Amino acid sequence: MSALDLLDDPGTATGLTAPPQSADDAGDIDPEALALRARLFYAVKYADYYDVGPEMHTPLYGLMHDTIRALVCQHRAAAGPGAPFVFLDIGSGTGAECLPILSDYGASRMVAVDVCSEMHTLLAKKVEAVLGPAGVAKRCRFVNGDIAGKAANSDVLLAKAADLGQPGGYDIVVSALAIHHLRTAEKVAVYRRIARVLRPGGLFINADLFTFQSRTLAPAAEQFAMDYIDTQFTQPDEKNRLAWQTLGPLVIPMRQEWLDHYKKDNLPDPIEGPGDAGRLSGDAARGQAAMLTAAGFAEVACPFRYWELGILWAQR
Ligand SMILES: C[S@@+](CC[C@H](N)C(=O)[O-])C[C@H]1O[C@@H](n2cnc3c(N)ncnc32)[C@H](O)[C@@H]1O
Repeated sequence: MSALDLLDDPGTATGLTAPPQSADDAGDIDPEALALRARLFYAVKYADYYDVGPEMHTPLYGLMHDTIRALVCQHRAAAGPGAPFVFLDIGSGTGAECLPILSDYGASRMVAVDVCSEMHTLLAKKVEAVLGPAGVAKRCRFVNGDIAGKAANSDVLLAKAADLGQPGGYDIVVSALAIHHLRTAEKVAVYRRIARVLRPGGLFINADLFTFQSRTLAPAAEQFAMDYIDTQFTQPDEKNRLAWQTLGPLVIPMRQEWLDHYKKDNLPDPIEGPGDAGRLSGDAARGQAAMLTAAGFAEVACPFRYWELGILWAQR
């Protein structure tokens, strides 16, 4: 059996991989997930180019991923390197966070959730190259769906962990650059969902884009990110020059689509609580650290921050 055979069965997923055959079938498709996919141009039409140069759109992408790896290592240290564990990767993309964990820990097993089947296909090929078909069958499961939708609800996620031999849920949930696409109320619901599927003492690492409560810093940080993208797609830094050359003429449409996406499609909420009451209201004003505490996490911290990029660390 190949890793591609393990990709989510359309019966339990959003139906995104199978276009509707008739008006009746249309009810099986999650409209929210379809709308989300329409915003994720880089994971649909440009999926094959995602690995060429992620640092062209996200400064410190490599350092952020190194930090995720170090945080996993720190969390697993007490259990010892050979202790088995199950982790969930939300917005797994082409494997930037899950592949190092699978490689570092031979006793780890993972469930990868992604709303874009294009990314799952690329991921399945990569994990198969590292683990082989038998390793993938034993250690990996895939859910093609929106983490805020039915296709990845807590029953589905717990069933997948059970299928990997751990009925009590996950030891670690990790996510990188995915949750900022959700609206504030969806983030609140997803944080509750994550708390429900984590075992007591389990760790959630959310490496993502976050805005600020400050009226001054919020627009400045967004502008910093947009200027960064603009520069890397026109006059790249040395580190991105090879990626820029590899993309060739695609840099022109991609630059514009990244800038449009950044401005229109990202929905970052602040980490911190209300330091500047009035700019935001409701859950957004509370900040994501407070949302995590309310969702049931005992300890919440921010071990990494660079403008809009950050990592939220939350222990259940
Ligand atoms: C910017 S990529 C990041 C991929 C990988 N985590 C990394 O750091 O390179 C975001 C990924 O999250 C997925 N994604 C975005 N929103 C999602 C959601 N609500 N549910 C599931 N996957 C989502 C996208 O399809 C894409 O593969």
